[in-house]
Amino acid sequence: MILDTTTTNKTGGCCKSSSFNREISVEDNSCKKLPSKNESAHKPEGVSCSKDPARTKDLPGRSCCGRSSNTPTCKTSRNESAVTPEKYYNDLGGNENLQTGACRANEEKMPEYLQEPASKIPEEINENTYGCGFPFSTTQLKNMKDSLVVDLGCGAGRDVYLYAFLVGEGGRATGIDTSKNQLAIAKKYQLQMAEAYGYQNSNTEFIEDKNENLINTGIKISSVDIFTSNCVLNLSDCPEKIFSAMLLLLKANGTVYLSDVFPDKPVSDEIKNDDELRNECLAGNTWEHTKALLNDKTPSGYRLTFKEIASDKIKLANPNVEKKVDNITYYSKTIEITKVAENPQEQEKPA
Ligand SMILES: C[S@@+](CC[C@H](N)C(=O)[O-])C[C@H]1O[C@@H](n2cnc3c(N)ncnc32)[C@H](O)[C@@H]1O
Repeated sequence: MILDTTTTNKTGGCCKSSSFNREISVEDNSCKKLPSKNESAHKPEGVSCSKDPARTKDLPGRSCCGRSSNTPTCKTSRNESAVTPEKYYNDLGGNENLQTGACRANEEKMPEYLQEPASKIPEEINENTYGCGFPFSTTQLKNMKDSLVVDLGCGAGRDVYLYAFLVGEGGRATGIDTSKNQLAIAKKYQLQMAEAYGYQNSNTEFIEDKNENLINTGIKISSVDIFTSNCVLNLSDCPEKIFSAMLLLLKANGTVYLSDVFPDKPVSDEIKNDDELRNECLAGNTWEHTKALLNDKTPSGYRLTFKEIASDKIKLANPNVEKKVDNITYYSKTIEITKVAENPQEQEKPA
């Protein structure tokens, strides 16, 4: 497989390469890309680095480029949707309009240490939150100060703001979503939330893009301390593309906090092609399948550890939907996933 990747080097220049070495160099890891276990290694060819005058951002963990087309191509058994998840959530207009109980996290499950920062979150954000869990550590054992956190499918930004509190003003919480309307709500409160947490400047950032395009968002390789995602990845036709990029951008010993809806058995093509079921998060992969994809997309030299934080049976609370999904039981799970170097001596330096 030929890798075609553009990343940034340490000096901020953009680097274009048609292929990459297997290892990230510890001197300058930014122009090389670590392929996943299933991608063959190539020697770098035609690497050229130059300053990019179009560079607009110099935020922690962001580069001007970081472009790549080195991601899996997906075959999907889904037909083209009339109502895509992007459109569905753009137009939903509040969680009272959800058709089932799948995307409604039970507030009682919120870890105690999040309750204070959560009390500062505006009502409009809470009303437009469609998460199915709390993708955070249960005990805040990990010291998150100054970390870079990226939320895949952040919606109106509730979890971004909770992480913005946990990482402190020296850290950064970045949200990615496709919905203009959801992001407009999130962005409206950036200054208010910074003030509420006693920060001089906002430490949040929102990017309008598809999660499947994560590798092209300018986030640097091995720069992210924590990835998080709440009730989103089940919506994707190509989760392997997201996992491949996510595990490349995650630091060694970095963590993924993933909350999502998982069926207890593979769903039929009929369910996959039902827009209502898909958009209500009921047509995704099982946890076993998701775990296999994650393991498969782990960069060479690393392995993943998995810890289940929560697993709750979902009450769909909609007789028509219950009839359509018949014998399937859905669970809202929150999993802590850590990227561990197989040989700790060979861990890459932070970007
Ligand atoms: C069930 S909502 C969850 C939103 C948010 N995580 C929360 O907890 O409120 C799903 C979100 O994923 C977004 N979304 C759907 N497909 C996406 C994609 N391919 N890339 C990025 N975001 C996507 C939708 O716009 C929506 O905001």
